[in-house]
Amino acid sequence: MDSAEIEQCFEVALGLVKEAGQVVREAIKKQKTIETKSCNVDLVTESDKAVEKLLIEGLAKAFPSHKFIGEESTAAGAKCVLTHDPTWIIDPIDGTMNFVHSLPYTCVSVGLWAGKEALVGIIFNPVLDQMFTAKKGQGAYLNGERIRVSGQKDLSQALIFAEMGTSRDPEKVKTVLTNLTTLMPRAHGVRGMGSAALGIASIAAGWGDAYYHLSLHCWDTAAAASLLVVEAGASCVTLQAAHLT
Ligand code: IPD
Repeated sequence: MDSAEIEQCFEVALGLVKEAGQVVREAIKKQKTIETKSCNVDLVTESDKAVEKLLIEGLAKAFPSHKFIGEESTAAGAKCVLTHDPTWIIDPIDGTMNFVHSLPYTCVSVGLWAGKEALVGIIFNPVLDQMFTAKKGQGAYLNGERIRVSGQKDLSQALIFAEMGTSRDPEKVKTVLTNLTTLMPRAHGVRGMGSAALGIASIAAGWGDAYYHLSLHCWDTAAAASLLVVEAGASCVTLQAAHLT
């Protein structure tokens, strides 16, 4: 895709993400209809589905040849396949558990990939009005202001963002807790925000110094980890082992 096409994609997606944000901003104050997915703490609400529909319909209208990977479409049985074609990867509400509890750390996350690389990333917390944006090679922004990672390299002075994840498999829970036990005494602090995309975006903004999570899905990482935080100056790696040492 050339830079004019990327710009056009960015502008259309930005408008739709703002519309989606309005849906989330209204719905977070109200009673939610909640269903479970892989386990009883992996949640989906009618708003997750409505936002994903709004985004996919709007993007498909503007870009009929583009493909889609969406968290809720995948949960409903759609194939989750990334080709070289332009593909929008969507998490309609990242931090659904927070959303269900009306905790304002929740966001809409949209990434555009083509040639198997991330070109556009938009992560929007509509409750706190935080719009994180990135285009490949053009830096990372929060509400239009350039953001950069903290540059902190001393673990004893670093605020680490981590997540517990939704798995309740005893072995996985043990790994999560063992990692926290290893890390907590060595770090300045450890935080879990409950939204992977917002946790990673916080590192891009320099509000924390590192982030890790075991078993993330592509819609959690497509915009924030694969583009925004990298454009802000971070290194992003796949862990080779589940245990921190
Ligand atoms: C979840 C959140 C959470 C993370 C889970 C994700 P969802 O996404 O990002 O922080 O720990 O692994 O599944 O389900 O709220 O879109």
